[in-house]
Amino acid sequence: MRKKTVRDIDLTDKRIIMRADFNVPVKEGKITDDTRIVAALPTIKYILDQKGTSLILMSHLGRPKGNKKPELSLKPVAKHLEKLLDRRVSMAPDCVGDEVKELAGQLSEGAVLLLENLRFHKEEEANDPLFAKELASLADIFVNDAFGTAHRAHASTEGIAHYLPAVAGFLMEKEIKFLGGVLEHPEKPFVAIIGGAKVSTKIGVLESLLEKVDSLIIGGGMSYTFLKVQGHRIGKSLLEEDYLETAKTLLEKAKERGVTLLLPLDHLVASEFSENAEAEYIKEVDIPDGKIGMDVGEKTLAEYKKYIDKAKTIVWNGPLGVFEFDNFANGTLEVARMVASSSGTTIVGGGDSVAAVKKFGLADKIDHVSTGGGASLEFLEGKELPGIKVLESK
Ligand code: 3PG
Repeated sequence: MRKKTVRDIDLTDKRIIMRADFNVPVKEGKITDDTRIVAALPTIKYILDQKGTSLILMSHLGRPKGNKKPELSLKPVAKHLEKLLDRRVSMAPDCVGDEVKELAGQLSEGAVLLLENLRFHKEEEANDPLFAKELASLADIFVNDAFGTAHRAHASTEGIAHYLPAVAGFLMEKEIKFLGGVLEHPEKPFVAIIGGAKVSTKIGVLESLLEKVDSLIIGGGMSYTFLKVQGHRIGKSLLEEDYLETAKTLLEKAKERGVTLLLPLDHLVASEFSENAEAEYIKEVDIPDGKIGMDVGEKTLAEYKKYIDKAKTIVWNGPLGVFEFDNFANGTLEVARMVASSSGTTIVGGGDSVAAVKKFGLADKIDHVSTGGGASLEFLEGKELPGIKVLESK
């Protein structure tokens, strides 16, 4: 169902409260990656361009679990936003309470106020109705542009929408368009590349994508559990014993559905899991005893390429090897290059694969780099995200 956006509602002379996902990495008071802030700018600017509007922004940062932790203050975000918007962004001392109410009430046309970290109050994550109502009382209209937090049913993402007209921002709209598009009407051939350390965190997405894709590439730490099921030796590689049965079922499901499932054919291995470990090439599927699979080999990459090159739609979630270690980054780098040079629609979601395309400087060659980690995964699992569900439909 299509959701109303800021374009579908009259914002004239209104005070708007907007949930953004400003959960960005901060080191010693400095923001080290502002992607999520930049991604919210189109909606912020649009709102401020409307006649008579003022804007209250709110977000969480980290997981303070109801405690006021100064190191998780949103102050650095307010400063950064000021630079990006080239206008004053005032910082509220809290997100609820009399002082905040007063500050909100005084906002003049074009003014921007950022509320302090919502998770300094435990009521936020508890989706407490009174807390949600208090947030709602600060404004006339609620805009949710926090796709990255849309899988959380919290007071600022779900609860508040019960008390105000609630619409999506442009980032939310874009995420739904791309991620929803691949689930609803992907252009074929549709290839999914799923990597990452654990099968256990990817079962839902694998199950859901097996219904849609023509080919499924499985790489990264999770691939060894699948190789084990197929009877291969995997040495000391990551193995999730409890998920062998699940992996078996997924392999059978792929077969039943006629999905080509690609697993590593060769490997880069190490004797120990460490940054300085030397890479050793194993030219076959079986990994010798004592060795740990750390990355895919050239033969595997050549095979992946055949499918990626022909794809009209590609979804990629999760690295293909231990890309944080330079000696084992090649598989992820090569796949990133293949995806970046594809002429099909390309979507990358999930914290690590997004970090990888950014690290390799390829993010601008991908059609859609999702701002959601857990949210994009749950969306691709086919779940209805509470922060989206609650918004008004067209
Ligand atoms: C994220 O970084 O994935 C979102 O901001 C959600 O954060 P959370 O996992 O702490 O709810």
